[in-house]
Amino acid sequence: MLKKFKTDLAAANAVCDRVETLLSVKKDALICIAGGDTPLQTMQELVRRSKTGQIDFREAYFVGLDEWVGLGLETPGSCRATLFSQLFDKLIGLKKEHICFFDGKAEDLAEECDRIDQFVDKRGGIDFILLGIGMNGHLGFNEPGVQIDLNAHVVELDSVTKQVMSKYFEKDLPLTQGISLGMKQILASKEIVVLATGTKKAEIIQLTVETEPTPQIPATFMKKAKNAQFFVDEAAGSLV
Ligand code: GLP
Repeated sequence: MLKKFKTDLAAANAVCDRVETLLSVKKDALICIAGGDTPLQTMQELVRRSKTGQIDFREAYFVGLDEWVGLGLETPGSCRATLFSQLFDKLIGLKKEHICFFDGKAEDLAEECDRIDQFVDKRGGIDFILLGIGMNGHLGFNEPGVQIDLNAHVVELDSVTKQVMSKYFEKDLPLTQGISLGMKQILASKEIVVLATGTKKAEIIQLTVETEPTPQIPATFMKKAKNAQFFVDEAAGSLV
């Protein structure tokens, strides 16, 4: 369930290998890649493989994992801004209508959740999902205390998330909510990778590995998923 790699780059390459294999057998697979810092190297390598023709994204579909409520493309650091600027805009041949991403500025957030759920359902669920892990063990915005039977929903941000979030933005933002795929959709994904790199993730990886599934540490529910793996570099895996 936990795979250790020598470096963060090696872990990112292994994630890309999974995507490459998937798209070679299922060209119209539905893929979900988390925002945040951790997947940035993976995105870079996916773009490289797309440009060399090693991976063909022309029929691929993407769904967003999460977004900060109130933010859109114009805010660097929003999930949408990260995914579009680092990945979607650079993949060769990816069709814009094959991308469904949370609008953090939608007036009706419940409707927005329905729109995302319908997109996922229409594709028959998610084929591959790459998750990061929060310092509190969150996945997407499935925060401690999570309910595991929910699809896309609006979430009150946890205090740890509020402390950490300033790293994404140029100035302090008064964010209190997130909108996120739910654990039900995540757990139903056909292939799940949780990627963690760097020393700062070592403790939460240790806690996740050593704790039985509990809503207090959402990442522990990966143990209930059939096809979930943690990919860690040596630093993040140093305590396990
Ligand atoms: C953020 C996002 C998640 C992300 C996680 C880890 O708050 N909501 O989508 O995967 O926390 O972020 P990072 O990779 O920057 O550590």
